[in-house]
Amino acid sequence: MRDQKTVTIADDTVIQKLRKMGFPRQGRPLDNVVGEMLEDVCTNQALLQHPRFFAFVPSPASPLSWVGDVLTDAYNPHGGTWMESSAASCLEQETIQWLCQQAGYPQTAGGLFVSGGSIANLTALAAARHAMLTETEYSSGVAYLSEQAHFSILKALRIMGLTKEQIHMIPCDDSLRMDVLQLEQAILQDKKAGKKPFLVVATAGTTNTGCIDPLSRIADICQIHRLWFHVDGAYGASALVSKKYRHLLEDVARADSLVWDAHKWLFQTYACSTVLFRDRKHLAGFYSSDPEYLRDAAAENGEINYWEWGIELTRPARSLKLWLTLQTLGTDQISDMVTHGIDLAQQTESMLRNQPEWEVVTPAQLAIVNFRYAPQGLSPQQQDELNTAISQRMMEDGFACVLTTQLKGRTVLRICSIHPETTEDDIRHTIQRMDQYARALKKERVPNFS
Ligand SMILES: Cc1ncc(COP(=O)(O)O)c(C=O)c1O
Repeated sequence: MRDQKTVTIADDTVIQKLRKMGFPRQGRPLDNVVGEMLEDVCTNQALLQHPRFFAFVPSPASPLSWVGDVLTDAYNPHGGTWMESSAASCLEQETIQWLCQQAGYPQTAGGLFVSGGSIANLTALAAARHAMLTETEYSSGVAYLSEQAHFSILKALRIMGLTKEQIHMIPCDDSLRMDVLQLEQAILQDKKAGKKPFLVVATAGTTNTGCIDPLSRIADICQIHRLWFHVDGAYGASALVSKKYRHLLEDVARADSLVWDAHKWLFQTYACSTVLFRDRKHLAGFYSSDPEYLRDAAAENGEINYWEWGIELTRPARSLKLWLTLQTLGTDQISDMVTHGIDLAQQTESMLRNQPEWEVVTPAQLAIVNFRYAPQGLSPQQQDELNTAISQRMMEDGFACVLTTQLKGRTVLRICSIHPETTEDDIRHTIQRMDQYARALKKERVPNFS
């Protein structure tokens, strides 16, 4: 894996070949088809599980998750009803309970596995609105989120039918956390205008910078104004399992609902996310119904029919691979693996601070650092172009994948270091290469610049 390119994109020849294949009337030998998949499909992808894949939120899936996935797919339990998957549903309950304990939730808590953070956010927000508003109030309900919230929140609110006027985007402070003063002002103004504020979405670990919104103050505001407090921890909630860093997220316990992706930083293959509620009755209250053809599969005391807790009826038993991973590695090792990512981001930050002409734009927060090649004498625009070019050259080279994002109107490079096998040397060599590219690119593009 270490010697492979971090990103390979299929060239035109491969794409044309795949398009031309069509579907035969008579089948072909399995060996040939598998061979083609291995050669043309599996090789042409980004390796988000590569120790030097630092873009987006990487997916350093444990091979144990893969084993759990293969078993789950092979036996294919229907995770929608207890009757069809009693043991798997029981383990889903147990795994969810363990996650709820990590979040500091009380006994009333519960939740379920879903395919990803986007669906998890939608699942939570739709149930939240049902808990907070009557249907006649839906059209005047207002939801609040920060400018740095993940776009899946906006998507979820749109799917729920909220109009632009019902979605209140709150600006961030200098450290790109939700500005709570502006939040409170917006709520007061909206109330005065006769609207019905019902929801605040905070992020525990934003995708851009890894920062954590001021959870405690937002929780206070939600309490005072009786609003639902949702935390999107799709990426960052995993810090809860790190003994060293869990204190950063202690206020997550005050959230009414929490999203936590296991396919990000709990080392699972796709598609494995969770949505957790401090009081599980709100999930069942919104999603359960009573179709006559499912009555034979009605749940008894203590049993759960997960189709009554979320959007899907037919669903795979997504918890099994996480359960298998936790059983096999043990929670101490999982804690160390998460801790490693955060420690590494801090080391990345200090290496960058010692690098002339480079600037740290946002410090290590959880496992993310943003930075920029910013030689003096170049305009901010020229610097933006250089940083984009550095990331493109790195991608072509394939040694590491470091992509850009936009912060405060400028292009910055971003490293998310959650892979437990990434070493300090991996980071050092990546920075050295970026520096070489930066200097070469500066010469190419700004030849008269000394
Ligand atoms: C904070 C946050 N929320 C939600 C999502 C969406 O999760 P998914 O890609 O699993 O749908 C992401 C993805 O990166 C994220 O970082």
